[in-house]
Amino acid sequence: MPPLSRWFIRAALLYLAVGFTFGALLLGNKGIPFAPWLWRLLPSHIEFLVVGWTVQLIFGVGFWILPRFRGERGWMAPAWATFWLLNAGVLLAALAPPLGAQGGWVLVGRLAEAGAAACFAVHAWPRIKAAGA
Ligand code: HEM
Repeated sequence: MPPLSRWFIRAALLYLAVGFTFGALLLGNKGIPFAPWLWRLLPSHIEFLVVGWTVQLIFGVGFWILPRFRGERGWMAPAWATFWLLNAGVLLAALAPPLGAQGGWVLVGRLAEAGAAACFAVHAWPRIKAAGA
């Protein structure tokens, strides 16, 4: 497995662990309310699991398995930019609401996530080809 895929998949697993922990806290607090402020973790729970875990795992595995060019994976700059933009975006969009930051930070996070998706498309597009082509 290439180094970038390892970074993607390890980061995805960290988000899975934290996202599930937040989910368990939310669920427990829903059954037996013990800390009303815990509801502030709901946006982080959603962001960590939907984008930090699911999307990141897809990028990590996609980068690994898409067809290569004589063993090479093509233009690496947008692939690494995907990793950094996605994680900066997830952290901003997930942590701004519970920390009470201005809504603009969530927007910046979402723009970073959109940038990550665009970078992944730029990297992956030439690799979408028939076997042996
Ligand atoms: C990949 C796994 C998961 C994903 C993608 C996910 C995603 C979501 C989403 C999108 C919501 C918002 C739903 C809404 O507002 O209608 C939500 C709410 C919630 N999730 Fe998860 N979740 C996951 C796993 C879990 C787990 C494992 C737990 C508990 C151990 C959990 C506990 C909760 C709770 C308590 C809520 C709030 C429900 C409410 O509004 O009453 N989630 N989750």
